[in-house]
Formats: sequence, C-alpha cells, structure tokens
Amino acid sequence: MFASSNITEAFRRIRFDAFTLDGRPSCVRSAFFATQHYLDRFDSIRGGSDNGITLLGKPGSGKTHLLIAAANELISRGIGVLYFPWAEGSNELRKLLQDKEDVQKRIDAMKAAEVLYIDDLFKGRKEPTDFQREFLFEVVNYRYLNHLPIMMSSEKFTDQIMEIDEGIGRRIYERSRSHKVDMVLNETEGDLSLNYSIRGERQ
Ligand SMILES: Nc1ncnc2c1ncn2[C@@H]1O[C@H](COP(=O)(O)OP(=O)(O)OP(=O)(O)O)[C@@H](O)[C@H]1O
Ligand SMILES: [Mg+2]
Repeated sequence: MFASSNITEAFRRIRFDAFTLDGRPSCVRSAFFATQHYLDRFDSIRGGSDNGITLLGKPGSGKTHLLIAAANELISRGIGVLYFPWAEGSNELRKLLQDKEDVQKRIDAMKAAEVLYIDDLFKGRKEPTDFQREFLFEVVNYRYLNHLPIMMSSEKFTDQIMEIDEGIGRRIYERSRSHKVDMVLNETEGDLSLNYSIRGERQ
C-alpha cells in the first residue's frame, strides 16, 4: 500500500508524536485536533457527504506533517491513500501528456483511490493551466459525486482558492465542512510564528 501511495520513504516516518503543540499558536492546536478527530471518525464518515479534511495556511505551519501522519495511519489500517503533491504531480502529468503517455490511467488512479491527499493545491503559479484545471476538476468532481474522501492542504486561503476555481473549491469545502482549519494567528499571538522553523521569533 505504501508502494502505491507515492509517499516517499522519509515521509513514511512522519508521525503525530513528533508534532509539538507546546508554545505553538492556537490554530496549530486546532489543526492537530481536527486531524485526530478526523481519524477517529474516519470509518463512520468515509462514505458520507462530509468525509474530507482541509488544512489551509502559511508555509511551515505543519499542514503536510499532520496530513502525511494521517495518511500513514490510514495506510497502517489498510486504507489506500494516494499522495498527490500538486506542483510536482501536475508537472509529471504534463510531461506524460507531452510524451503521449497514458495520462488518463494516472487520472483514473486519482479518481479511484480510497483516499486522495492533494498537497499544496494551486502552489507554483498564479493561475493553473487549462490542463491542470481540467484534470483536477475531473478528479474532484468524480470524488465529490461518489463520496470518496479528499484530504487537502494549501497555502492559499478559501477566498483565493474560490477565486482561482470556484467549482473545484466549492466541492472540496462542501465535503470537508467539519474538518477544515484556516491556520491564522489570532491578535494576541503577534510574537509567535506559524512557521515552525522560525518559531518564537517575530515575523
Ligand atoms: N508543530 C510541529 N512540531 C514538530 N515539527 C513541526 C511542527 N510544525 C511543523 N513541523 C516541521 O516543520 C517542517 C515544515 O512543516 P510542514 O512541511 O508540515 O509545513 P507546511 O504547512 O506543509 O508548509 P508548506 O505550506 O510550505 O508546505 C516539517 O519538517 C515539519 O515536520
Ligand atoms: Mg506542505
């Protein structure tokens, strides 16, 4: 299952116990608990209309760490997760298309996976290409209609994602209503940094 997940060797080792909550902004705690809650409920919600999880926020805030740890746990329970890092994954698809390889087979795998994790959605360019928009819509719409879970993280916030593509954004949000965290600092946390690697320093 790991072999078909696209999760690299290094990422397979990412666990929740290495995730620090001490001294972290409250939205990081919210994201952590939302992820735990999601995993606790997964079996009962997976076929329903609110079966996804979305973490949005600044670079370094821990989104990928949390959702890869969640993916690892689901895989260890025997649930197939396909990891799709947006920029790298869509570049790979574009290259396959140029080489006249079978792109549809890959797109079909993204549609069929038990769980699909799209990491860093819409990273890399201001506007997605027509190709990116089309294959992503095909995948998201199929999963939406068939109640197949999507885990998603992005540095873009809801309004930015909706501005880029409302059809895609709406479908992802509708399916992650109960597990969606916008990771932003509140007004009393001005001395904290959301970026874990420069934590404690003023931004
Ligand atoms: N609370 C935390 N405890 C321990 N390590 C953390 C924590 N938050 C982030 N990290 C570590 O900091 C690094 C950056 O975190 P991560 O990649 O999850 O951020 P991200 O929100 O996905 O950022 P980006 O938007 O750039 O993809 C990783 O090595 C991660 O393991
Ligand atoms: Mg990330």
